[in-house]
Amino acid sequence: MTVPDGTADPEALRERALDALLAARARTALLTSCVEDPELTAQHSPLMSPLVWDLAHIGNQEDQWLLRTVGGQEAIRPEIDGLYDAFEHPRAERPALPLLPPAEARRYVHEVRGRALDVLEGTAFRGGDRLTEAGFAFGMIAQHEQQHDETMLITHQLRTGAPALTAEDPPPAPNFTGPSEVLVPGGPFTMGTSTEPWALDNERPAHRRTVAPFHIDTAPVTNGAYQGFVEDGGYDDARWWAPEGWAHVRAHGIVAPLFWRREGRRWLRRRFGVVEAVPPDEPVLHVSWYEADAYARWAGRRLPTEAEWEKAARHDPATGRSRRYPWGDTDPGPAHANLGQRHLRPAPAGSYPAGESPLGVRQLMGDVWEWTASDLEPYPGFTAFPYREYSEVFFGPEYKVLRGGSFAVDPVACRGTFRNWDYPVRRQIFSGFRTARDASPEALAAREAV
Ligand code: AVJ
Ligand code: FE
Repeated sequence: MTVPDGTADPEALRERALDALLAARARTALLTSCVEDPELTAQHSPLMSPLVWDLAHIGNQEDQWLLRTVGGQEAIRPEIDGLYDAFEHPRAERPALPLLPPAEARRYVHEVRGRALDVLEGTAFRGGDRLTEAGFAFGMIAQHEQQHDETMLITHQLRTGAPALTAEDPPPAPNFTGPSEVLVPGGPFTMGTSTEPWALDNERPAHRRTVAPFHIDTAPVTNGAYQGFVEDGGYDDARWWAPEGWAHVRAHGIVAPLFWRREGRRWLRRRFGVVEAVPPDEPVLHVSWYEADAYARWAGRRLPTEAEWEKAARHDPATGRSRRYPWGDTDPGPAHANLGQRHLRPAPAGSYPAGESPLGVRQLMGDVWEWTASDLEPYPGFTAFPYREYSEVFFGPEYKVLRGGSFAVDPVACRGTFRNWDYPVRRQIFSGFRTARDASPEALAAREAV
């Protein structure tokens, strides 16, 4: 769908919804069949659910929204709703619940899906209510499944033991000779969307936002650059850290990104069960907001705000419009961005020239989720839809916004406007960052002169 205004033909959207649901299920099946059943019910980290919980939760959300709400059907198994309600049971408690065993969970999601495809066939994508308009509910459920597929990939990364997943490496780094940062002009731009058919509630509505001129890195911060901070004693110097971040790294003995281990003078990392040398030109991964913030201060820079990030990613100075993606309005393809678990690692910094923004910023979509300086807040005019627990209950200063998506997120669950969030201490997620700085008066004067 290259139409950015939601006027795409309903039959094209229906086909797109079907493809998205099938693609999500293929990924879910892989992530829950590449290990033996005992590994599905085990808890690999107190931060995560057992994989079998994610599996049945995926089916239960589909059951609630597509079969019951859209389809008007009776619940298949109403007694399990509570077990799979993320708010009723924190992740650490989930292994002790009487969860559906793997075979039963598979049967359940399979039965739900069979009925959901019938509902899809019989639902009008136009002239119904807001939930079914442009197939929103189906897009939402495909995104939900893909979000849990990313969550399950995080669980796979945390799990120890023999590797269960493999994928091709991304193409080698191109010879990127561009500048290390670009100047983003100040002034208003359009943030968020009111027209993207499957955008979630927190991305809405489109509104004007003004930012001061700033510089932003053309690529995410690399392992090599981050290692400079580590070797310079960055983790031992309170000057660089937000007070809560300093307290956290001290209390937990954190001295490097998660999954890194020093061996003599080199750094190794564990990635999906394989130990390898940390590749210096790959974007740094598995850092907390506090680590990103401290690195930026050490480098004499700062994290971009969420609005700055979106302006760098979407604003087209030639037209004044905000694009759907950095490269334009067309959906992501393999040349644009490292998305969809096609590769199980970020691509080297400077990759994906075809995915560059109009100002020459690369890898905004895919590779690593990028921490921003901003708390998760509603846009002006926000209304919760279709349920408060998707976004609204998370608004406030406890959560920091991440943008752009990682190698682990599917294109259906990632857009120029997509907003992710987590606690600033979290780093099991596929998180990295890029840095920014205020534009100096000299840089602005030089720009005026040309
Ligand atoms: C938006 C990625 C933070 O995984 O907790 C999944 C998405 N919401 N099920 C999460 C979500 C409900 C959510 N994030
Ligand atoms: Fe969920």
